[in-house]
Amino acid sequence: MTARQTLASWKKLQQLAQVKKSQHMNTLFAQDSDRFNKFSIELPNMLLDYSKNLIDTETIEALLALAEETQVCEWREKMFSGEKINKTEDRAVLHTALRRQSDEPLILDGENITDHVQQQLVKMEGFVNRVREGHWKGYSGKRIKDIVNIGVGGSNLGPQMVTEALKHYSDNSVNVHYVSNVDGAQIVEILRPLDPEKVLFIVSSKTFTTTETMTNARTAIKWLTSSSFDESSVAKHFVAVTANKENAMGFGIEEDNIFDMWDWVGGRFSLWSAIGLAVALDLGFEKFEELLQGAHDMDQHFINKPLKENMPAIMALISVWNTTFLGSQSQAILPYDQTLHMLTAYLQQAEMESNGKSVTWQGDDVDYATVPSIWGELGINGQHAFYQYLHQSNNVVPADFIGSVESVTPVQGHHETLMSNFFAQTQALMAGVDEQQVRADLKAKGRTDDYIDKVAPHKVHKGNRPTNTILLKRIDPKTLGSLIAAYEHKIFVQGIILQICSFDQWGVELGKGLAADIQQELEENNISDRHDCSTASLMRFYQSAK
Ligand code: F6P
Repeated sequence: MTARQTLASWKKLQQLAQVKKSQHMNTLFAQDSDRFNKFSIELPNMLLDYSKNLIDTETIEALLALAEETQVCEWREKMFSGEKINKTEDRAVLHTALRRQSDEPLILDGENITDHVQQQLVKMEGFVNRVREGHWKGYSGKRIKDIVNIGVGGSNLGPQMVTEALKHYSDNSVNVHYVSNVDGAQIVEILRPLDPEKVLFIVSSKTFTTTETMTNARTAIKWLTSSSFDESSVAKHFVAVTANKENAMGFGIEEDNIFDMWDWVGGRFSLWSAIGLAVALDLGFEKFEELLQGAHDMDQHFINKPLKENMPAIMALISVWNTTFLGSQSQAILPYDQTLHMLTAYLQQAEMESNGKSVTWQGDDVDYATVPSIWGELGINGQHAFYQYLHQSNNVVPADFIGSVESVTPVQGHHETLMSNFFAQTQALMAGVDEQQVRADLKAKGRTDDYIDKVAPHKVHKGNRPTNTILLKRIDPKTLGSLIAAYEHKIFVQGIILQICSFDQWGVELGKGLAADIQQELEENNISDRHDCSTASLMRFYQSAK
C-alpha cells in the first residue's frame, strides 16, 4: 500500500466509488436539475461541462479533499517558482516561464531565465520577419518559400498540431512541412516537389542525439548539397533548435542559426519555446505571441482560481476518479473541429509519456491504476468507426468532447450538423435507452412482437458513460494556447495526485538502446546470440530475405 491509499480522502473515494458504481447518471440528473450549473466552469473563451460524470457534490468534495491532502497547490507553487520537481532528472519544470508575459526575474541556478527566454523570443522574431519578408535568402539569392521542420515526439507533435489547427490564420508567406518519421518514404515525399534553393530546414531536437532526427537531417543536407554543390550552403538553409549547441555545431549548423532550448523545458511541453519556430514562420510572430498569451491566461487561471473552479484541476480530478477509482482503462479524446485533427496524437504523448508510469516518486510500485491510455479521432469520423464500442461495449471509455461555437470556415448547414452530433453523442452516452423504451419505440413503428423480441436486446444502450464537454468559442491562437495549457496542467495535477514523476520518460530508453545495438548488428551482418530466439530469428529472416 502506498502513502496515498492511507489518506482519508482516498479511503472516502474508494467507498464512494462502490456506491456510485451501482448508480445511473439518469437518476443523478433527475434528482438534481442544477447539475450543469454545479458541475461546469466558464472561462472567457471556453466552457467545461463535467456534469455528465458519475459524480455528485459529495464526490467532488472528496476529490477536492484529495487534492488538498496531496498538496496540489503547494506543488503548483513549486513548479511555477522553478523548484526541481523533475526529481529523477534533477530539473526544474518551467515551460510556463516561456509564456510568462512579465519582465520580472525568475532565478534558476543563479541565472535569470526570464532574460534567456526574452533573448530567444527577440531572436525568433527577427528571424521570422527576415524569412517571411524575403530578406533571408537561399544560396542562390532566392527567398525562402518552404520550411521543413525535422523533429520527432515533442519536437514535432506540438508544432505540427498547432500548424494544422491554425492553418486558417496563415497568410501563406511560406509553406510549412513536417518530417518526423525515419521511414525514408516521408522525407522523400515531402522533398520531391520542393526547390532546394528556396527551402529552409529547422532541425528541432532538444538533445540533438535522436537517431531518427539526425538521420533525416543528414538526408536533408545531402539533398541540399547535391543541388548547391557547396557545403557552405548549409548555413543559408539550416537552423537548429536545441539544448545541445555543441552537437548542432558539430553537425555543421552555424552558431548564429541555433535557437536555444533548456533542460528545464520537457520535450512534450516545448511548443512555447523556439521549438514552435515553424508555427511562428507560418503565422507570423504576432500570432505566435497570441498563442503564448492564451497559454499564459490559462496559467493565471490555474494559479489563481480555487480548485473547485479550476478547469485543469477539475479535469485531472475527474480523470483520477474515472480511472483510479471507477476503473476505466482508457480515455477518448474526440475533437469535433477539423482543425484539431492532430490533438489526440498530441495528447497521447503529453499524457501517456508524462504519466504512463507505475512507480511513485520514491520508486515504490503503485498498486492503483494511474493514467488511462489515450486514443480517439475526429468526432464525426469516429462516429462511423468506433462509437459503436463507446456506446455498447462492456468497457466504459470516458471521453472528452471538444467542439467550437463558431467554425473558422463556415459553410452553410455544416456546422449545425456537426454540433448537433456533438451534443447528441454526449446525451446518448449518458442517458442510453432501456429495453422498455426500445420496445415501445418499435411498437410505435408498427413492428411485430416477434421482430421486437429478436431486436430489442441489441438496441438497448445502457448509457452511464462519462463525458466532459469542452466548448470553445472559436479556434484561434489564443484559445488554442489556453486549451493546450489546460491539458498540460491537468497532466501535472494528475501526476501529483498519483505520485507519478510526470516530467521524465525513462520508458522510452530501453527500446532506443536496443535499436542502436540491433542496427549495428544488421549493418555488420553479425546477429548476436544475446537476443531471444524470436528476435534473433526475425532479424536473420529479414537479412536473408533482403
Ligand atoms: O520519444 C522520447 C523523446 O525523448 C521525447 O520525450 C521527445 O519529445 C522526443 O524523444 C524527441 O527528443 P529530441 O527533441 O531530443 O530529439
